[in-house]
Amino acid sequence: MTNKKTDENAPFLTFAKPCLSEETYRDVEAVLRSGWLTTGPKVAQFEKDLSAYFGGRQARAISSATAGLQLALLAIGLREGDEVITTPLTFVATLNTIVQAGGKPVLIDIDPNTRNMDMSLLEAAITPRTRAIVPVHFAGLPVDLDTLYATAKKHNLRVIEDCAHAIGAEYNGQKIGGFGDIQVMSFHPNKNMTTGEGGAVITDDKDVLQKIERLRFHGIDREAFNRFSKSGSQHYDVVTPGFKYNMMDIQAAIGLRQLPMLDGFIDSRTQLVKQYRERLASLEKIFLPADPAYAHKHAWHLLTVLVPERDTFIEKMKEKNIGIGMHYVCAHLFTFYRETYGFKQGDFPHAENVGARICSLPLFPTMTQSELDRVVDAVQEVLV
Ligand SMILES: Cc1ncc(COP(=O)(O)O)c(C=O)c1O
Repeated sequence: MTNKKTDENAPFLTFAKPCLSEETYRDVEAVLRSGWLTTGPKVAQFEKDLSAYFGGRQARAISSATAGLQLALLAIGLREGDEVITTPLTFVATLNTIVQAGGKPVLIDIDPNTRNMDMSLLEAAITPRTRAIVPVHFAGLPVDLDTLYATAKKHNLRVIEDCAHAIGAEYNGQKIGGFGDIQVMSFHPNKNMTTGEGGAVITDDKDVLQKIERLRFHGIDREAFNRFSKSGSQHYDVVTPGFKYNMMDIQAAIGLRQLPMLDGFIDSRTQLVKQYRERLASLEKIFLPADPAYAHKHAWHLLTVLVPERDTFIEKMKEKNIGIGMHYVCAHLFTFYRETYGFKQGDFPHAENVGARICSLPLFPTMTQSELDRVVDAVQEVLV
């Protein structure tokens, strides 16, 4: 007789999964058959739809959030050695792009309960070299934007919100991306909505928009769509040595079908998290994230938990055919950041403590009740 409830022969459950509607397959096929695969009418429409979703703010589609962060930092005119404040508990792209744009990442510790940047530490991190703040809405929970923007205004700093986890979230009744300085979204397949790979920059700043348009396509003043269409001209000028970060119509066709489903995806994630929280609350060995005091809607991109012996936990869950994510080990402890900026263990104790124990439970909009039951049972068995 065994008390085990989990079935080790059940199929492997990935921790995330994109959710594509049937129409998406037809639309992608239509783009493939149209003869126009790269940036074109679908991207233009996707940008319009994103703009409508964000209350009329301007949207520019790009190849990834990583590209968007780099372009946004370049577009604000970051100069060599300018300091940019961010969090150590993030995907390394947040820091890498600061370095790529010529900046120096300056980190502040997190609030261990919410896992977002501790805004009470922000003011003290500002120096005469500080140019920008890149907050990360960790796991889809908006950071304290009132404090952030008040501090940025006081010190005349730019804000580039890393919204890779947060499309669909709200702060004080307003959509993340619906207000503020510059926001960067990710449409990677694990994210709240996808275009395969892809991203978008949202802003009202006309100068930033123009620079992003140029930088995302070789520094050319117009894109391929203009040059190769009947009304376009073959001539172009290059005004800056730009990148190749444009989004393809194949990707935008997926995004056009995902965007109307986004709010429903967030509702499904929220319902699943509610169940997880209720059913795991009594387990002593697991720590769930806490809600901040300010009004917000969590996008629940990730449900991160802290467990003792995280790597063993992940292995044991894998043995039960359940995939667990690891978001994130602290970025400042990677070799490049230790060697280049002298970061070391002990610099950001809360982030390091969380980074050593954190992992993400399976969570995606089409997750079934029996899949959630399987995970809860397995967690209970593994953490006895
Ligand atoms: C916080 C954060 N920022 C940026 C990125 C980069 O996003 P992308 O994969 O679209 O480049 C990610 C991706 O996981 C992320 O989690």
